[in-house]
Amino acid sequence: MNYIGSKLKLLQFLEKSISQVVTEKNYRFSDLFAGTGIVGRYFKEKWHQVTSNDLQYYSYVLNKNYIGNHTDLYFSGLLSEIPDLLVGDVNSYKSIVLEYLNRLSWEKGFIYKNYAPGGTKWQEFERMYFTDANAMRCDAIRQKIEHWKSKKLITENEYFFLLTSLLENIDKVANTASVYGAFLKNFKKSAVQSLRLTPAEFYLNDHDHEVFNSDILDLAKSTSHDVVYLDPPYNERQYSANYHMLETIAKYDNPKIKGKTGLRDYSEQKSDYCRKSEVKKSFSELISTLNAKYIFLSYNDEGLMSLDEIREIMSRRGEYWVFEQKYQRFKADKSENRNHKQDSVIEYLHYVVVK
Ligand SMILES: C[S@@+](CC[C@H](N)C(=O)[O-])C[C@H]1O[C@@H](n2cnc3c(N)ncnc32)[C@H](O)[C@@H]1O
Repeated sequence: MNYIGSKLKLLQFLEKSISQVVTEKNYRFSDLFAGTGIVGRYFKEKWHQVTSNDLQYYSYVLNKNYIGNHTDLYFSGLLSEIPDLLVGDVNSYKSIVLEYLNRLSWEKGFIYKNYAPGGTKWQEFERMYFTDANAMRCDAIRQKIEHWKSKKLITENEYFFLLTSLLENIDKVANTASVYGAFLKNFKKSAVQSLRLTPAEFYLNDHDHEVFNSDILDLAKSTSHDVVYLDPPYNERQYSANYHMLETIAKYDNPKIKGKTGLRDYSEQKSDYCRKSEVKKSFSELISTLNAKYIFLSYNDEGLMSLDEIREIMSRRGEYWVFEQKYQRFKADKSENRNHKQDSVIEYLHYVVVK
């Protein structure tokens, strides 16, 4: 998923830097602003035990699958509904279930009625986030997954795998420049492709991993960690507004929505890390609260906090240093990029070895 602040292209830089500092081999890795979970996934693949957390529910869903899931899925509760499972083997069960979902009859549910042109035609705002067909496919799949869960036909692990497969694939056919803060006026090429579920694969790793959906400060007050990795938002773009569609598909809770973009209320999910007036205070409180042996922080040279402010706050806990790497800017939309003179930024990895 193309995600604001994704560290997909910085994974090796992160691992290399962390391995220069952390002397212990089998440390627990805590990715506490996890987003897509890509960093935790990388460390899970390297056989670490991983703890993951994010404020957004869609991120929790992704991480429950990519981090929390670590054993095979059998879908044995679906045998009578999907007889093809009887002839498959453990390597094909996931695809068999997704194929069944791909063939469902379409439904006119919440996504169609509020985010597709057919469903919104006579409303105050006509919206074009998805084609009519993809919105109806999404509703049918989402409703089926929830039905299976409520009838206890799938396990929690299977539920989060199926939901993640839906979120990843619906994102590929969204008619947006990248994030959900706005939709395009004409359907782009990728948006007219049919929604097709493909498996959101996860690593089998025999540790018990933990996944939370908390404000980071609340979590910091009640947990202890070995290596904490912090990747907070760097600027004023709230994730809850930019990914409201994924939140609604993940929760499927018929929220009240408003305005041209059909935004759900996100007053409870506004992050202090996106507010110039709050960020230093919140970061400082977080750093002083965290119970960990090492704390690492990703931040760039255009973030709301300056290098000096971060250094000052982190050095209060112990021995501080910083790694850096040049990095290509996230291309969210053209108008956003027009405001920037440089195409690249410097990504910093600050750290403190806690005393
Ligand atoms: C820069 S992104 C993380 C990107 C992630 N490392 C990746 O590569 O996908 C920042 C994340 O912090 C989350 N976040 C913001 N404020 C938070 C808070 N107070 N507590 C927990 N998570 C928060 C956002 O929802 C967002 O997913």
